[in-house]
Amino acid sequence: MSTDGVDTSRRRFLTAATSVVGAVGAVGMAVPFITSMNPSARAQAAGAPVEADFSKLEPGALLTVEWRGKPVWVIRRTEQNLADLKTLTDRLRDPNSEVDQQPPYAKNETRSIKPEFGVMVGICTHLGCSPTYRPEIAPADLGADWKGGFFCPCHGSRFDLAGRVYAGVPAPTNLVVPPHMYLSDTRILVGKDEGAA
Ligand code: FES
Repeated sequence: MSTDGVDTSRRRFLTAATSVVGAVGAVGMAVPFITSMNPSARAQAAGAPVEADFSKLEPGALLTVEWRGKPVWVIRRTEQNLADLKTLTDRLRDPNSEVDQQPPYAKNETRSIKPEFGVMVGICTHLGCSPTYRPEIAPADLGADWKGGFFCPCHGSRFDLAGRVYAGVPAPTNLVVPPHMYLSDTRILVGKDEGAA
């Protein structure tokens, strides 16, 4: 699995979050800083769509891109992962994605356009921590019935590999699936979809 992308991105994300807090007391400084950003950086900060190239993503791995200051994960699920997702329904709070946390094209069992690839905002729906990717099956700390997913270290919320929240944890809803569209078999655009085009 690729952990480099995760760690790097999380660091960047935390740095960005720290900068925002710091900027509250220094509004006068913020304007010259923003106007000195190059055009693409300004567009990105304002929420422009972001491309993700996952041509090198191995089965079972995850990569992170940043969109609107948030981490967005792309995961490549294995055949086993897809089979395991079908077994979890009874343990999930919203297995059929009834709550509006995804575009219509991701309101399905894998919450994605293509079952193999999941795309979701890596922010816990409880109080906004970034959960940890835990693809292992039955690790000692998560229990024998853990089938891989995301674990939030802040208050223990758990999500499966489709971003569906488990029952009985603090997070109230599934992870958000952002609008996105495929540009090719191995590239997506996050932040824009066919419907909005
Ligand atoms: S922020 Fe994730 S469990 Fe509280």
